[in-house]
Amino acid sequence: MNPNKALWEKGDFTRIAASMRESGEALVEELAITNGLEVLDLGCGDGTTALPAARRGANVLGVDIASNLVEAGNARAQSLGLTNCRFQEGDATDLHELEDDRFDLVVSIFGAMFAPKPFDVAKEIVRVTRPGGRIVMGNWIPNDPTLVAQILKISSSYSPPPPEGFISPMTWGVESSVIERFLGAGIPRENVSFARDTFTFEYPHMPSKLVDIFRKFYGPTMNAFEAAEKSGRADDLQRELEDLFNSQNKSLSKDTTSIPATYLRVSVAVN
Ligand SMILES: C[S@@+](CC[C@H](N)C(=O)[O-])C[C@H]1O[C@@H](n2cnc3c(N)ncnc32)[C@H](O)[C@@H]1O
Repeated sequence: MNPNKALWEKGDFTRIAASMRESGEALVEELAITNGLEVLDLGCGDGTTALPAARRGANVLGVDIASNLVEAGNARAQSLGLTNCRFQEGDATDLHELEDDRFDLVVSIFGAMFAPKPFDVAKEIVRVTRPGGRIVMGNWIPNDPTLVAQILKISSSYSPPPPEGFISPMTWGVESSVIERFLGAGIPRENVSFARDTFTFEYPHMPSKLVDIFRKFYGPTMNAFEAAEKSGRADDLQRELEDLFNSQNKSLSKDTTSIPATYLRVSVAVN
């Protein structure tokens, strides 16, 4: 089985995504969605950004490598009566099922960054975007002090070393790498712009309960706990994550969680 697919089907990202809905909604609000806009949400999960885009009148296709998330996305769209939003399985490294120049807007929020072969990913995203269209990516930033970069950093320090040749997903949060990848896909430097933005994780219980959700349902953290259990360090990992979540919690009540996380927003104009 493709390890990239296995990683995301292992857990249940819908349990994490539930804490990301408000920021997903806010991000889509800024995308100037118009009626009938053809939108691809790549690495869409269960529709954190796909559903708000469809509610604003876009025709949205969500593509994700994880079959459980595709199923969850279609169920959410159906329960909201959104006939202009559907989800299907696909791999950002090879979108052969999608024709050239098909979309006005390709969105990938913490999605395509997790696919291997980043140069192939950039080429595929550009190929399916029509001339005059745009691409918006949200990417976590390596060594950033805020939540998700730190979860991934801590998790990897308890996990076995990655296979040789592995390119860290976090490199999508480095501007020079992003420019290089889109240059490789024929996009000039001046068409790529960057901004720092925030996604806030909102959870109606104390931060340690959100750590438990990551431990049970978020593939990268699940793998880290499996490795830590084998080496007798699971309690250390739990403690490190609880310290992180508690120290970053901005909620006025310690019984609820509100943790902002910084990401790199990449905007690309396709000529
Ligand atoms: C952190 S989640 C983000 C999901 C969603 N965009 C959101 O904001 O809720 C990463 C998503 O990328 C998907 N993904 C990872 N590798 C992929 C690939 N090669 N092709 C398509 N989707 C991929 C995962 O299955 C998962 O749904």
